[in-house]
Amino acid sequence: MTDQHGTIESHPLRHGEEAETYPPRPEFRAQANVNDSSVYWRAAEDPEAYWADQARRLKWSKPFTEILDWSNPPFAKWFADGELNVAANCLDRHVAAGLGDRVAIHFEGEPGDTRTLTYAELTHEVKRAANMLTSLGVTAGDRVAIYMPMIPETVIAMLAVARLGAAHSVVFGGFSAESLRARIDDARAELVITADGGYRKGRASALKPTVDDALALETGGEPSVQRVLVVERTKNEVAMVPGRDLWWHEEITAFDGDHEPQGFPAENPLFILYTSGTTGKPKGILHTSGGYLTQVSTTHRNVFDLKPETDVYWCTADIGWVTGHSYVVYGPLANGATQVIYEGTPDTPDWGRWWSIVQKYGVTILYTAPTAIRACMKVGRQVPEQYDLSSIRVLGSVGEPINPEAWRWYREIIGAGSAPIVDTWWQTETGAIMISPLPGLTSLKPGSAQVPHPGIDVNVVDEAGNRVDRGQGGLLTIRRPWPSMVRTIWGDDQRFIDTYWAKFGDQYFAGDGARVDEDGDVWLLGRVDDVMNVSGHRLSTAEIESALVEHHAVAESAVIGAHDETTGQAVVAFVILKSQQTLLAPDDAEQALKQHVASQIGAIARPRQIFVVSELPKTRSGKIMRRLLKDVAEGKEVGDTTTLADTAVMQTISARMREGTR
Ligand code: WTA
Repeated sequence: MTDQHGTIESHPLRHGEEAETYPPRPEFRAQANVNDSSVYWRAAEDPEAYWADQARRLKWSKPFTEILDWSNPPFAKWFADGELNVAANCLDRHVAAGLGDRVAIHFEGEPGDTRTLTYAELTHEVKRAANMLTSLGVTAGDRVAIYMPMIPETVIAMLAVARLGAAHSVVFGGFSAESLRARIDDARAELVITADGGYRKGRASALKPTVDDALALETGGEPSVQRVLVVERTKNEVAMVPGRDLWWHEEITAFDGDHEPQGFPAENPLFILYTSGTTGKPKGILHTSGGYLTQVSTTHRNVFDLKPETDVYWCTADIGWVTGHSYVVYGPLANGATQVIYEGTPDTPDWGRWWSIVQKYGVTILYTAPTAIRACMKVGRQVPEQYDLSSIRVLGSVGEPINPEAWRWYREIIGAGSAPIVDTWWQTETGAIMISPLPGLTSLKPGSAQVPHPGIDVNVVDEAGNRVDRGQGGLLTIRRPWPSMVRTIWGDDQRFIDTYWAKFGDQYFAGDGARVDEDGDVWLLGRVDDVMNVSGHRLSTAEIESALVEHHAVAESAVIGAHDETTGQAVVAFVILKSQQTLLAPDDAEQALKQHVASQIGAIARPRQIFVVSELPKTRSGKIMRRLLKDVAEGKEVGDTTTLADTAVMQTISARMREGTR
């Protein structure tokens, strides 16, 4: 990993751990969707031909003749002269193929209510919703913000927007009014689709009031939003603004299920998804249609070995994150999969909930995050052992490196000691899985994401962009454009260039450290920038720091991601209070500032700890040395302090931390 001086630390894993491998069982290999390893070299020889073949599995209303246009790097175009309708590829196509009666979604609400939607029913609902959105003025090229719980209408809303050639911007329901408003404004969305609320942790938690707050914020500009469409979920009372707010269930009654899908160019925007970067302002990652759908469907089929006729697939990610976009909505539905969508948290009413869902629906493929696996490990194997999990045949992991201990537990306890685990590395920006095993081919190594998907060209380089030797740590880059790559940062091409391409010119810089071992397997080493990974969610140190200094009592702040047993990393903040301030007693500061961050950004960003300090460690040029703060927060020996302007600072902070954690 690099610190701010750009040096690369050695790899943290113990030697010998790589020796542990799990080859695919012969029975699994025999039935696998991909079991001929020649796919790797064939795709490497002609990646464009590989992706074009994959793209032809979709239904194009106008077939493409161009594959990749890289004439204006880093702005890629894939299949640019082709036209398709993304929603029709996820819906109408399957119904037309006679699969209308296949279950698309088994929905399980947290309170225990259930709904089943076949492909025919889901198609019907999306068509009606598309007609309703048309009546509200949504047309191709518009942006629609979606702020919803995990319910079928969220999927319906996304697909209805896509069907019209408009772009959605889904904002995770845990984000605050401020965060929601910033995203609405950046995309200039004219419609917000929300719900009265959703169920989480045994309670109905409200969403609509946050939309109201977001739209009422004084930001100096008029909100772009004209209409708010509200889905009824919890039946909590909500205030409806006349002329602006409409109930989904009332409006929809006027519309039938006739709707002809129109083809849109492959590069038509499909969605914007905001993600944290190294500055305070979230980046609107733009994904387009044809290339994105190609890669999410291909990877979903190959990596999870999906058999749409028989599998019951379940990805536990919230639709508000990219994993929910690519592997709850677009990948599975493009492949005609049957899937489970669960609204709530894994511990409601108790920690058996997930396993009861696996048993009830006969889940065969489970895709979740290491942080969830570690939380289940903590509770103990006796919980999942009470359920019949024998239907499971493939397990997936995403969001952060899965530590070998969690990997073994996942395989043993959830996968009956035999299910392959696919550890999938990718990002909001990559749109789809980039590095992972293929379960019928790869000998699995706990802790490594292993091999680039066929047609993907990753590299590990030094600071100068030169490939490092096997066994050496370096920076992960991607050399060739891939179909589902981010097209730009919404409204900010220059930031797109600066963030991902300026460092190496012709290689996409992912922001992750990595190492390739002697067998050619990739080990991810974590972020090398100021992006934290808390429970598999990306948070920016700069964004939380700027939220803290916006508080009237705070003069300065520094935020770091400290190692955490369960969540991978946890947010730890160091703040200097204004000397003149009288509003906040230092003793109350911790609680008040935690709450402040939660209300500014969202509960996911709430710091685990806040320490009030009198100084921050800075270099002579005034740069905060977060690396040293990370050392103290993790209880480690504090690293080299010789470049500090005031070397005594770290002793004061260490002493303050010891007081604070007593
Ligand atoms: C990290 C989530 C190691 C990585 C899909 C990346 C991983 C960031 C893995 C993207 C993995 C994700 N092994 N690290 N299997 N998967 N990451 O945009 O640091 O929310 O850059 O996308 O998560 O997070 P994002």
